[in-house]
Amino acid sequence: MRIIETIAEMQQAADNWRAHGERIGFVPTMGFLHKGHLDLMRTARRLSSQVVISIFVNPTQFAPHEDFDSYPRDMQRDLDFAREVGVDAVFTPNLHEMYPEGFQTYVTVTEVSKNLCGRSRPVFFRGVATVVSKLFHAVKPHLSVFGEKDFQQLVTIRRMVRDMNMDVEIIGHPIVREEDGLAMSSRNAYLRPEERPVALRLGRALALAQDLVSSGERQVDAILGKVSEFIAGDGAAKIDYAQICDPNTLEDIAHIGGPALLALAVWVGKTRLIDNRILQPSG
Ligand code: PAJ
Repeated sequence: MRIIETIAEMQQAADNWRAHGERIGFVPTMGFLHKGHLDLMRTARRLSSQVVISIFVNPTQFAPHEDFDSYPRDMQRDLDFAREVGVDAVFTPNLHEMYPEGFQTYVTVTEVSKNLCGRSRPVFFRGVATVVSKLFHAVKPHLSVFGEKDFQQLVTIRRMVRDMNMDVEIIGHPIVREEDGLAMSSRNAYLRPEERPVALRLGRALALAQDLVSSGERQVDAILGKVSEFIAGDGAAKIDYAQICDPNTLEDIAHIGGPALLALAVWVGKTRLIDNRILQPSG
């Protein structure tokens, strides 16, 4: 497995593979890999002949008060995981390589990034779109895999790729969960043992909402009221947002008429967790 630290070397490797007719599959990550990341890599492995992952904790998607400095990092462990999955190259640029002095160009996806996480994290999607765009120019992938856990990120990247004519196929991957139902996340490492049962409420609330929809409830306010009460009624968690949206535009809806995205962001202690599910009206 190659470890590549510079953009020039990454581009050269990509050009070389492309010249030999290889199909490059790419999984961008911020490291501290878990089983969810590994499943994305396995999907890339199945669909391509050369698999590249990136490990880069991207400062432009963190606000100054957020956890950039404390974001968990363990390069050695990550490299071992990547080797196990059969990754061909790990691209790990340093900060200066990605954002040299004088850097001033950003990618903004204006509409789908406004709601949900865009409301509480206003710089987040600009940072994500910018870094993913830069990573695509370095890795030159034919396809790239993104998790539905970060549903709005996936929608934003799809929009950017279409709008900018980027020649890369975006593959969405279902949410990977722990056995107890908690959506896997590098940030789960922040949870204290006594916070875990509270964290499980997110996944259960998604199931509760689907049950309500299956039994005929169509009013978004009614569903969100019950979801919020279930998660935070006792004050053990704090809801950042609980919203039901059109899964394509990510705009709020008032009434469920077709598949609808229920998206949650919840503070459990000092940890912000996100989860989501597409609610399917029966019949
Ligand atoms: P990171 O949080 O490391 O996630 C990397 C990829 O793994 C993303 O596509 C994310 O959606 C996916 N992922 C994480 N947990 C998952 C789970 N439980 N199930 C399925 N997929 C999961 O997302 C980022 O990094 C960054 O924003 C990045 C795209 C790398 C840009 O910096």
